[in-house]
Amino acid sequence: MINYTEKIPNNVDLGRDRVLQRALEHWQPAYMGWWYDMGPNESHNYEVYLRTAISVEPDGWAQFDYVKMPEYRWGIFLQPRDEKREVNFGIHKGQPAWQEVPGEYRSTLRRVIVTQGDTEPASVEQQRMLGASCPSMYDLRNIFQVNVEEGRHLWAMVYLLHRYFGRDGREEAESLLARRSGDADNPRILGAFNEPTPDWLAFYMFTFFTDRDGKFQLCALAESGFDPLARTCRFMLTEEAHHMFVGETGVGRIIQRTCEVMKENKVEDPSDVRALGVIDLQTIQKYLNFHYSVTLDLYGSDVSSNAANYYTSGLKGRFRETKLEDDHVLADAVYPVSEVVGGKIITKNVPALTALNERLRDDYIDEIADGVGRWQRVIDNAGIPFRLTLPHKGFHREIGNFAGQCISPDGEVLSEEAWKSHESEWLPSSKDYTFVQSLMSGRVVELGKFANWIAPPPRGINNQPLNFEYVRFN
Ligand SMILES: [Fe+2]
Ligand SMILES: [Fe+2]
Repeated sequence: MINYTEKIPNNVDLGRDRVLQRALEHWQPAYMGWWYDMGPNESHNYEVYLRTAISVEPDGWAQFDYVKMPEYRWGIFLQPRDEKREVNFGIHKGQPAWQEVPGEYRSTLRRVIVTQGDTEPASVEQQRMLGASCPSMYDLRNIFQVNVEEGRHLWAMVYLLHRYFGRDGREEAESLLARRSGDADNPRILGAFNEPTPDWLAFYMFTFFTDRDGKFQLCALAESGFDPLARTCRFMLTEEAHHMFVGETGVGRIIQRTCEVMKENKVEDPSDVRALGVIDLQTIQKYLNFHYSVTLDLYGSDVSSNAANYYTSGLKGRFRETKLEDDHVLADAVYPVSEVVGGKIITKNVPALTALNERLRDDYIDEIADGVGRWQRVIDNAGIPFRLTLPHKGFHREIGNFAGQCISPDGEVLSEEAWKSHESEWLPSSKDYTFVQSLMSGRVVELGKFANWIAPPPRGINNQPLNFEYVRFN
């Protein structure tokens, strides 16, 4: 069980380590200052029907109750230790998993933890204004749940920095509260986390696409030979599943509502669809193209010696590393990557160690394709002849082999001029954003009511009815 009687709830016996406890108690007010400034706007007095982790066991970690978000029990929860766990890949394979940071990997490991940690507060910042345009109380509650858990993920990474990295770690923990999403002078570390999330379609796309990048990064870190990182990430993954649920069902409900309105009114032309106050499928496709492509960049360069080093040294594994059947060293293995040569996309084999970013990206793409297939079924079931597609991997990329190339969603290599002439068909234009935001000009919070542009979910949260009071505004 998690000890909630302490100032910082934890299952790491924090009370036994006075120095660490004091360091974290010093960071806590700074964190609260950040939450008050950058957490969900005007929400501090709301009572929200939230789940809180009460135990890290699979059956006991979600307790639902009304909580004011600043009083949420943020804390430090690690999956219990497996005494027999080993380093499962790379040159240290077979050694006992490390309980302390190996000196030679200290700065690399710190960088990995800081990069992951930076994404957590970033998404809260990106989403902070959306409460004012929520489509229902149910959805408002869901975004707040995502936000408090991202806050807890920041705690999880800060614990590792404080506990294992001394003064450098404490400084990094302060910097995590100082950077701001989209700030010109002190932005968040990764590109997608500096993009605005201006409306609820963007929010659902973000939680479907970008939180899923989070899942894959956490899965790779959950394989780490550095055991405290692995155990921390395992517990974070249990929370991440809800974020992706919010995204997938959110987009699915928007598609469903659009299809209903198209059928009822027998319209197909996007402007007729828009006139009925729902989001046309073409615009949904453009949002998909945008969020997919900026998220693919998060995996980094297709060929990367850093990725090889992380793996070889046992710091970051592959997706489901221990379930894979090979030597877990990859000294002789190869992996295919694509690049543009002479105006054509070609695929060639490179040493698998250097292609680990690309491999994780491909694992991610497989899962994304399944989700997009589920959205497609909503359209098919309505009998509407429209296909949602995942654009080519090289479309609209800024990092890796496709950076600087002009690739169409179909995977055609184009001139810059030709690409630009189609850009507004492929990516949301300012007009598209203006339209989507025009549907979301105010919040819908009457009990059981949903905005016109989104279908209600089939069921409420924690078996509550849809007209449950998920948020008390006070
Ligand atoms: Fe997270
Ligand atoms: Fe998340």
